Amino acid sequence: MPWNAIETPYLRVDQPRFDNNIQRLNCHLNALNTPLRPHVKTVKSLPAVKAIFNGGTGPITVSTLKEADFFAQHGFDDQIYAVGIAENKLPHVKRLIEQGIDLKIILESETQACNVVEFCRLHDVVIPTLVEVDCDGSRAGLTPDSQALMAVSQLLADAQLFKGVLLHAGGSYGCSTRAEKVAAAENERATAVRVKDQLAGVDIACPIVSIGSTPTAHFAQDLSGVTEVRAGVYVFFDLVMANINVCSLDDIALSVVTTVIGVKPEKGWILIDAGWMALSRDRGTAHQAIDYGYGMVLDAAGRPLDGWVVESTSQEHGIIKHRAGLTDIPSDIQVGDQLRILPNHACATASQFDKYYVSNAEDELIDEWPRFNYWT
Ligand SMILES: Cc1ncc(COP(=O)(O)O)c(C=O)c1O
Repeated sequence: MPWNAIETPYLRVDQPRFDNNIQRLNCHLNALNTPLRPHVKTVKSLPAVKAIFNGGTGPITVSTLKEADFFAQHGFDDQIYAVGIAENKLPHVKRLIEQGIDLKIILESETQACNVVEFCRLHDVVIPTLVEVDCDGSRAGLTPDSQALMAVSQLLADAQLFKGVLLHAGGSYGCSTRAEKVAAAENERATAVRVKDQLAGVDIACPIVSIGSTPTAHFAQDLSGVTEVRAGVYVFFDLVMANINVCSLDDIALSVVTTVIGVKPEKGWILIDAGWMALSRDRGTAHQAIDYGYGMVLDAAGRPLDGWVVESTSQEHGIIKHRAGLTDIPSDIQVGDQLRILPNHACATASQFDKYYVSNAEDELIDEWPRFNYWT
């Protein structure tokens, strides 16, 4: 099928870039002797995850139990569900464990730990559980060195459910210099190892020490004491990652292809058929070095239209303007032309679509990868 037979807006993956991004992190982590547990929340697609594992079914991180179910059905039997557990999901977790899936959950409070222990006792099931540790104050997790962390771990260990610790350095998304990212990675590692050692001091073994985000995974210099690293958005990268210098614009493997549906030279506007339904509402670059609005504009061949961004959106319309207020629209842009929009946040933009159209280095359409969304 030729590209122009596909209705816009659609999602396009540049496979050579996707492959390079996977290769880059694999090489880095291989050199540090630490396995990767990719977070499949970004791609939510079997062919994409198979490509990450070169056809295999390695350990994965999931963000929903729908991902857990789907990948379990396709042979991925080692999973961490890396969102703090809610009691209403425990029956679903039990079903997966009873199907033979080594599914681990995470939690960060005594209430959750008591619920899990009680559920396991009542239903005669073992749910392997990791305690989430907060290394930089950016989201969830128990404070390192705290009484609460030791108490929750002990509760789980007494019930033979404790499996280890999980950390996610969310603060690394605010680190733009190399030194900051290296420090965030080392803080994530060192905090994890400190907690592991404290637990060893009270005879609680920590078989899993799981850390990671895309920035820290790429900038870690040493991973000793860690058993695995997690990262998700690294396969596609996006403008948020480019803005903090984790990748370059040329590494971004995902774009939304859109059609020009209006040109307003008097206003300096180009109207496109990609609004927030296609691009998502994510404005992750709003407070970064370069604000790309709802996305950066490329021509149909993937060449940047310098300074042009999707400045505003409604449901199915996008308005492209120049960031510096230039009103001279490139003269060759006409109604009916196609453009590509690089996403602020690949996970959010991908989640607006149900498939990827995949291109090779020769710009040929070589595959379609179905993807899924939602929770149940
Ligand atoms: C618990 C956890 N681990 C790993 C990741 C992957 O990080 P990234 O999106 O930076 O690839 C995320 C992302 O949200 C996460 O929440």
